[in-house]
Amino acid sequence: MSRGGPRRPKNENRSISSSGGKRRKTVLVKAQGRGLSSTRWLQRQLNDPYVLAAKEAGYRSRAAFKLIELNEKFDIFSIGDKVVDLGAAPGGWSQVSSENIGKHGEVLGLDLQFIDPINGVKFLQMDVYAKETIKSILETLNGPANVVLSDMATRSTGHASTDHLRVISLAEAAADLAAQILAPNGVFIAKVFKGGTESELLKLLKKQYERVKHAKPPSSRATSAEEYVIARGFRYSKY
Ligand SMILES: C[S@@+](CC[C@H](N)C(=O)[O-])C[C@H]1O[C@@H](n2cnc3c(N)ncnc32)[C@H](O)[C@@H]1O
Repeated sequence: MSRGGPRRPKNENRSISSSGGKRRKTVLVKAQGRGLSSTRWLQRQLNDPYVLAAKEAGYRSRAAFKLIELNEKFDIFSIGDKVVDLGAAPGGWSQVSSENIGKHGEVLGLDLQFIDPINGVKFLQMDVYAKETIKSILETLNGPANVVLSDMATRSTGHASTDHLRVISLAEAAADLAAQILAPNGVFIAKVFKGGTESELLKLLKKQYERVKHAKPPSSRATSAEEYVIARGFRYSKY
């Protein structure tokens, strides 16, 4: 067993095609007392190749593939890294991080929600906005981090501009936190919304990091406005 579940063989390509490799029959879901939105959600889950692939590979979320794809493109992790995973529940990104940093690396996941334990991964059940969060992270990691990831999001309100503001506020909180805990040359990745990172945040990241890019991994749903900002080469480390 790997950390948190069965692993695929190391040399197997983790990216999957949007058809999931094989052609599968579409599963149709009857409402059977469910509301329209939960019927649609269930139908989408049952027909989503990434949901099926995550289940097969032992990942706790389809989101795991987003980090796998970002890592393939941007080479985020190094052996021995200390990684902080903000908004870690249910744990897919923590599993992927842990697979990429070797046995001397460390992963610390943080979320408002409880996370079932994953071998070799530490968790803090905390709010990223809480005053004591930075201190708790530094104490738990016993030093600065090399990578800060944020896949934080709140439940969709269905109101696009409200959702956008919430995601940006979480990305800003993550960027503030990263600036306090990253080691020199550290990496910061955060979920933002399409159309780019808000100009204030982008301006800040461009000052703090040598390279800043945006990417939407293939596994991110085309219908979702999410994308990720990838900032590498942290220049303002306190450590
Ligand atoms: C899309 S999920 C993350 C999925 C995760 N990357 C994975 O692979 O399993 C977003 C998470 O952000 C968390 N979150 C939202 N607001 C937060 C906050 N203020 N502090 C900490 N976590 C937060 C939510 O509880 C939720 O679990």
